[in-house]
Amino acid sequence: MNLDANTAKRHAAEYALGLIRNGMRLGLGTGTTADFLIDMIGKRIRDEGLSIWAVATSSRTVKRAEQAGVELSDLSDLRDLDLTIDGADEIDTRLHLIKGGGGALLREKIVAGASKEMFVIADQAKWVEQLGKFPLPIEIDRFGAQATSDMIRTLLGDLSYHGCSQNLRSSENAPVVTDGGNYIIDIKLQKIEDARQLATQLNAIPGVVETGLFVDICVLAILGYGNGKVDVIGRNDNYSGEQRGSGDV
Ligand code: 5RP
Repeated sequence: MNLDANTAKRHAAEYALGLIRNGMRLGLGTGTTADFLIDMIGKRIRDEGLSIWAVATSSRTVKRAEQAGVELSDLSDLRDLDLTIDGADEIDTRLHLIKGGGGALLREKIVAGASKEMFVIADQAKWVEQLGKFPLPIEIDRFGAQATSDMIRTLLGDLSYHGCSQNLRSSENAPVVTDGGNYIIDIKLQKIEDARQLATQLNAIPGVVETGLFVDICVLAILGYGNGKVDVIGRNDNYSGEQRGSGDV
């Protein structure tokens, strides 16, 4: 792991930690950046008696929260969450995201959807003018996976995404199976011209369970740098600077 990126992720997580208040109902994201935040929340629980309700977005996050001493609830019991804080693979200037590099996109989207707000925490290298360099993860049902993949290829051709390669995500020569029991296809698009249109049309394919495109879900991006600087970018009013620890959004 790149040390600078790790430091940047930690700074972004630290800033987000400052926004967490007693009594909040939180969605906890998945990935290395979310792990930093979960560990920090655990420390605040131990040191300050912070009291929160939390829901995990993946089995990985369940484990991490248990190790950090963060008690978890079931989303069906908590339902309306105040805030979900999660990582991302790409963030564009409208705060549309590509997520799912860690394979948790479905639960991440369910939890974010059940939250009043979603903030993203990331190292600044995730900030892009246009989404698409990071291969787009699409979670598909295992049944008829090849047929679904063919329908995705046809759709991409119809939308003028030509020559995109699709990879069934695998590990140790076997397809990766998500927490929801599904497969993931990663698609190299290079440039996504209209994220909303693409997400809507992919979701209309019967075997597609969910896509890693998060459109109009995230309202705040917290981007860390290796030197400790943090940029905080709201969906509507952009601002940047060293905002660490102020807790103001
Ligand atoms: C998992 C995700 C992660 O949030 C995303 O991959 C970023 O991960 P990291 O914080 O490790 O860079 O979407 O499904």
